[in-house]
Amino acid sequence: MKQPVSLNGKTVLVTGSPGFIGANLVLRLLKEMTSGTVISLDNMNDYYDPKLKEYRLSLIEKEAKKSPVKHCFIKGSIADRSLVDSVFETYQPSVVVNLAAQAGVRYSIDHPDVYIESNLIGFYNILEACRHHPVEHLVYASSSSVYGGNKKVPFSTDDRVDNPVSLYAATKKSNELLAHSYSKLYNIPSTGLRFFTVYGPAGRPDMFYFSATNRLVKGETIKIFNYGNCKRDFTYVGDIVEGVFRVMQGAPQKAVGEDGLPIPPYAVYNIGGGTPENLLDYVSTLQEELVRAGVLPEDYDFEGHRELVGMQPGDVPVTYADSTGLEKDYGFKPSIGIREGLRKFAEWYKKYHKA
Ligand SMILES: NC(=O)c1ccc[n+]([C@@H]2O[C@H](COP(=O)([O-])OP(=O)(O)OC[C@H]3O[C@@H](n4cnc5c(N)ncnc54)[C@H](O)[C@@H]3O)[C@@H](O)[C@H]2O)c1
Repeated sequence: MKQPVSLNGKTVLVTGSPGFIGANLVLRLLKEMTSGTVISLDNMNDYYDPKLKEYRLSLIEKEAKKSPVKHCFIKGSIADRSLVDSVFETYQPSVVVNLAAQAGVRYSIDHPDVYIESNLIGFYNILEACRHHPVEHLVYASSSSVYGGNKKVPFSTDDRVDNPVSLYAATKKSNELLAHSYSKLYNIPSTGLRFFTVYGPAGRPDMFYFSATNRLVKGETIKIFNYGNCKRDFTYVGDIVEGVFRVMQGAPQKAVGEDGLPIPPYAVYNIGGGTPENLLDYVSTLQEELVRAGVLPEDYDFEGHRELVGMQPGDVPVTYADSTGLEKDYGFKPSIGIREGLRKFAEWYKKYHKA
């Protein structure tokens, strides 16, 4: 049983908006909530082109004009303790969704500092702020990368996840551990969500489907890792938002243990499609949808623009989510397939680049 959390009339803080998932979540909140305030907090870093973040922010601002909910954007870093404290002090958020993080597995190999700063210090600042300004629910992004090279599939939240193969994965697993200790010590209801390869319109240009599209459009070759022998549980962003939106409204319940101390109101869920796709099939579908949307011509020489290469450090051969926990507790299972999802991406790409 979850503790119901009503969002209406409340203040919701979403860090990492207007990042990809954050912006989509805020758009959903502005559509669904009938009153209250939504705060987006993001440092707008240039890990990828910040114009895309500005574009997403413009969509949010447009939606906010039609919404009964107030929206406010704060530019700053969650690694800045005094900023985080002052945001909590000023706005007293009831629900916090921490999506701000340095994402990307490969980037963590050459840029470890920023992962420690944003994903560890930043997350610690959020936890401390939740400790001093109690919240009804803290929801935060973890990642399927915590499963590392686990062989047993599908990946279950009951599986051991003590062997990360990238610093990024190690920071995400650390977030879950830190959240557990804060839930236990300070009775903070927290839910970690392990997202599985999220894609969709206005997504992240560093991710395969988007960077491959950019390269193909420029006539460049795309690299297909592990010679295409990879399976990924791709999850459409709309499914992720639906999952986060439901989870926000049901917090782990508080209870007291035999020792008179809190039983940590703590939970972790997978959110993934549950149907891993072969990378080569995903690429074929992407190509077909790019042609269909008019991003690439029908006679495009795809074979001549692909190179099969070996495995990259930090990468894993398979990701496959067991999302039964989410289904059982929140009555929801991702359902949008790659054909539909990539179609939406290709159509958005065409429109965005035309504009
Ligand atoms: N997209 C995926 O496939 C995926 C998979 C698993 C987990 N996740 C996690 O989901 C969350 C959102 O990912 P996304 O795909 O939307 O990525 P994103 O990079 O588009 O969004 C993250 C946002 O956080 C901001 N940010 C980074 N460091 C910050 C800091 N110190 N202070 C304030 N803002 C900061 C960035 O500017 C960016 O806008 C991240 O925590 C990511 O690790 C994403």
